[in-house]
Amino acid sequence: MSIFQSQKEELEFMKNKNIKILAIDTSCDETSVAVLEDRKVLANVLASQTELHKKWGGVVPMVARRAHQENIGKCYLEAMKRARLKIDDIDVVAATYGPGLAIDLEVGLQFAQKFAIENKKPFIPVNHMEGHLLSSLALNSKGHGVSESLDKKQLFPALGLLVSGKHTEIILAKDYGNYQKLGKTLDDAAGEAFDKVGRMLNFGYPGGPIVSEFAKKANHKESFELPVPMRSSGNLDFSFSGLKTACLYKINSLRESGRSDKEWANDFCWEFIECVVLSITEKLGEAINQNPGVKSLLVGGGVFNNETLARRVGRLARKHGLKYLLPEKKYRSDNAVMIDLAAYVHAAGSEVLIGKKAISKVDRVPRLSISD
Ligand code: KG4
Ligand code: ZN
Repeated sequence: MSIFQSQKEELEFMKNKNIKILAIDTSCDETSVAVLEDRKVLANVLASQTELHKKWGGVVPMVARRAHQENIGKCYLEAMKRARLKIDDIDVVAATYGPGLAIDLEVGLQFAQKFAIENKKPFIPVNHMEGHLLSSLALNSKGHGVSESLDKKQLFPALGLLVSGKHTEIILAKDYGNYQKLGKTLDDAAGEAFDKVGRMLNFGYPGGPIVSEFAKKANHKESFELPVPMRSSGNLDFSFSGLKTACLYKINSLRESGRSDKEWANDFCWEFIECVVLSITEKLGEAINQNPGVKSLLVGGGVFNNETLARRVGRLARKHGLKYLLPEKKYRSDNAVMIDLAAYVHAAGSEVLIGKKAISKVDRVPRLSISD
């Protein structure tokens, strides 16, 4: 039973006030809960599990599930406390329903569904990748942010570039919710390649940030002839497994020659990143050329914490006169603020579910895509 007589009444209600959305994401190894008032972040609580998974060298879904179950209630209470809100103040509840690890997605999704049903709140299921795509739309408590305008005429059509631990995608966004995938990785995602190269270099988990730190100390004395992937593939797809294998062979041969990692690791990390960034920016450049009407570039995903990637993509955007929507650092990796933002742009649309029957029907979709 909805608190409203009709969905129309509900939608009118949401159009006319500053809506407060509670959002949850447990798609991988972060338990995250956020509360936003429209696009303004009131609370952003995150329980990271990095330390838990370190000893396994990667995310163990069952270990993550247990940690999500332990943390979700506490994160919710903390978020409500920081936002200074009571349950009654929440207008809408949102949660990630995919993509992600099935048994982990379930924890946040079910928590949010139960909350929405028990408290008679409307519910919006969110695609985690749409969250990454819109993560630059967050505003701080004073209403300032990367993009202060949501005006569709200024932003769309847009190109999206998502570079995370599981995805490397170029997207054509014609509107909020209207996405077409132009290119994707055929095997490993860029973040996965960073992590695997990090593992080869005994950097622990996650390797990506450490590979980036080592590269900053490069003195460019040595070249390793690593390949730039998919240069002449003639499409916008990516592939990072060949580069990863080339790294493995090179690292083995450097070690077999008796040289210590210390001598070459900084330069090696720099060259690896150069190959990844070149592959991404070349494909993005092609995508921009193929879509001349595009006005902005929406980016997101944990690999954008790498400054070279963030800077070079920015340079490309400037060269083509595109508005570059790079999220603040804290919203590049997984977080629930971005889930809130994706819910917000749909808060007056048909994605809003009302009543126990409709809400409880939503199931997690581990391989959910941003477009058909
Ligand atoms: O977006 P994200 O937090 O989670 C997914 O949805 O996958 O991305 C995680 C990925 C990991 O592969 C991690 O190593 C990578 O982002 N990452 C980085 C950096 N920080 C995180 N990669 C390169 N340089 C970084 N500074
Ligand atoms: Zn993510």
